[in-house]
Amino acid sequence: MELHKIIESTKRPAVYSKGTAQMWVDEYISDRLLEVHLNPDIELASRKETTITETVDWILEKVVGDGLEILDLGCGPGLYAEKLAGKGHKVTGMDFSANSIRYARESADRKKLNISYLQQNYLELEEENRYDLIMMIFTDFGVLLPEERERLLAKIHRALKPGGKFLFDVLNENFPIKEAGSKGWESAEKGFWRGEPYLALTESIYYEEQQVTLSQHVVIDESEEVDVYRFWIHTFSQADLEGLLSSRNFRATECYDRLIPSCDMYRSEDVTFCITIK
Ligand SMILES: C[S@@+](CC[C@H](N)C(=O)[O-])C[C@H]1O[C@@H](n2cnc3c(N)ncnc32)[C@H](O)[C@@H]1O
Repeated sequence: MELHKIIESTKRPAVYSKGTAQMWVDEYISDRLLEVHLNPDIELASRKETTITETVDWILEKVVGDGLEILDLGCGPGLYAEKLAGKGHKVTGMDFSANSIRYARESADRKKLNISYLQQNYLELEEENRYDLIMMIFTDFGVLLPEERERLLAKIHRALKPGGKFLFDVLNENFPIKEAGSKGWESAEKGFWRGEPYLALTESIYYEEQQVTLSQHVVIDESEEVDVYRFWIHTFSQADLEGLLSSRNFRATECYDRLIPSCDMYRSEDVTFCITIK
């Protein structure tokens, strides 16, 4: 066993350096993730059904109109897309997970819902003046690197119709992002990370200057490959959001707190929903 590879992989990395592997698009892991999305008792990849229904109702109070053109970025298995399409809106779901998109397409066919699903990286969104609403749900906006965030906001702005809205949720300043420093490990014959024996070393590290926490998982299997999965977690105050969005030419940013119940990942007061207008 080449222990030096493990030692190297568990050293504190430079801020925002990328991992060696992607969790969402790995064929084996994305199968496990799909199970997590669809398990009503676990809120690690999608929220529970009642929360999704309430969120969709709330979205349609804030974005009013018939037959709205809606784009759901990181749509996963289409849990929001289906509810919105069921209310008569023209929904496109975009996700780079082949497994989630396959499931979403089959589910829409079974339910006779006309939803367009695209298996695509949303950082490569290339559309213009098309959508009334673009949404991104489950705090995914906050795991983008700063440069990705800027790029995506520019693309979303271009893809919206004038007056169109971008709606997303983030972790806010109540979330204890600085309480990083924990380390843990898991060994299993098979499990979330691999379908074969593996060891996973998990750590969270706070970077004071950038105010970001790295959640890192180093996974070693019998091939002795060492894969490093990294998630950079940001929190945003209302002022942060207003500044960020106005610098990208969005206007009239509104923030809403305590819209959803507490779940496995965070408390109700940790999450802010934000709506902004092109
Ligand atoms: C936490 S899940 C949320 C799924 C869905 N919004 C929900 O709440 O049920 C994040 C989703 O974003 C997708 N995703 C992450 N980064 C992406 C990217 N760059 N392009 C497209 N999809 C992405 C993942 O595959 C995953 O389905």
